[in-house]
Amino acid sequence: MSDNEGKPTFDPRIQDPDKIRQLSRRGFIGSMAAGAAGVAGASTLLSTTAEAVAAPEPDLPAVPDTPPGGAAPDDEAYWEQVADQFLLRNGVIYMNSGTRGISPISVHKAQLEAIEAVNSDPNMCWSTYSFAGMSEIREKLAAFVGAGVDEVAVTNSTTDGMGLGFMGLELSQGDEILTTNYDYGWVKNMMAFRAKRDGLEFKMVDISDPSFRTPDDPQKVVDAVAAGITPRTRFLTICHINYTDGFVMPVKEICEIARDRGIITLVDGAQPPGMMKMDMSELGCDMYAGAGHKYMLAAQHTGFLYLRNEIADRVHPLIYTGSSNPEWAVTGARKLEQRGSSSYSDRISIGAALDFHNKIGVEAIEARLRYLSQRMSQGLKAIDGVTVYASDDPRMSCALVSFSVKDLDPSFIVGRLWYRSPNIYIRTVGAAGGFRGVRATLHVMDTADQVDTLVDRIASLAQA
Ligand SMILES: Cc1ncc(COP(=O)(O)O)c(C=O)c1O
Repeated sequence: MSDNEGKPTFDPRIQDPDKIRQLSRRGFIGSMAAGAAGVAGASTLLSTTAEAVAAPEPDLPAVPDTPPGGAAPDDEAYWEQVADQFLLRNGVIYMNSGTRGISPISVHKAQLEAIEAVNSDPNMCWSTYSFAGMSEIREKLAAFVGAGVDEVAVTNSTTDGMGLGFMGLELSQGDEILTTNYDYGWVKNMMAFRAKRDGLEFKMVDISDPSFRTPDDPQKVVDAVAAGITPRTRFLTICHINYTDGFVMPVKEICEIARDRGIITLVDGAQPPGMMKMDMSELGCDMYAGAGHKYMLAAQHTGFLYLRNEIADRVHPLIYTGSSNPEWAVTGARKLEQRGSSSYSDRISIGAALDFHNKIGVEAIEARLRYLSQRMSQGLKAIDGVTVYASDDPRMSCALVSFSVKDLDPSFIVGRLWYRSPNIYIRTVGAAGGFRGVRATLHVMDTADQVDTLVDRIASLAQA
């Protein structure tokens, strides 16, 4: 067995080893310098520190200042500086933030410093589950998603939030639980599991008809979901954005119908937080599970669950380590966080990621992503043999561009884009009803030039 077995290795096509070395050196040595001030006689440490102090500061780019009024979506000079905030090697085009939104340098550094603090300062051991800065992070998160501060719980992923919301919801034998066949496989599996365990009726609305994919009217989907509701439906979950075709579901309209009929709604928001401006009260859902590690650009193993105060008593923690004394009991969404130790550095990364978004401006980011995805959609639509599934209507699309090329297998397209230079990272998608395609998810590490490069490469493939 090699020493490296199971360990990730540098892939020179993706990573810029120099940037990563600079960062690690700066973080590690910086902490040693701070720590050494209080350590007398530690000669080895001091000599290393002296070397570190003498070492030149690496030239890492800072988050650019936002122009007055926010950057225009096509201000390439500004957005290129933002794109420079990522550790990707120049020449790699990363268009898969819908799976994992790699963190910018400021978030990466904040997380590294938090890891160093935890491992070098015994006082920090408490920080694995509670620390002073957590309320500030929660306040930032609540403001970011348009929720009350008592209505957000920090979770480990979208799936974790979906599980806390759905598995903890009061339901009775014979109740119907409803979703669509375009929802995420893990969520459907979870529903099937609980349905079997608790004697619930699990139903799925079929939205695989192609007319739902590039609809000219969101009402079609509203009607389809509404038709799946019966007097026994008690729970409904839909994606905010379908991860396959990028369709932005008419969440507000669907949640309104559900609320009128006393149905609890849980929205799978794996993609939108960090891509679109969020406002929970405007959406009108009861619960919303989001990812931190995708468009929000926080560390892996981060997410949140919004739990509307009015229904919080109907959702019970699966694990609860808070006090049972009513006087001290934790209520609202935060009761779902009472489950032992957690990761300080992951939580720190959420605060740093929100600072990154807020510095650039949430509206400016959304406008930029819409600009890039429209540019890509229009470019692709002009190529013979290419079908683009993203709607032109901004109500029904945002930063996910899915498409297929006639006679070309999606895996072949993904492989050709990745293994030839410049290396473009996108993924395949597939869903019920035989839908198969490839998906580019655009974020601020992507530039207009890179979008054009993808379009050119697809044009060559389609014509070959
Ligand atoms: C719609 C949807 N739901 C859930 C998930 C799972 O997300 P997480 O990895 O945050 O658990 C994904 C992942 O891509 C997704 O696209």
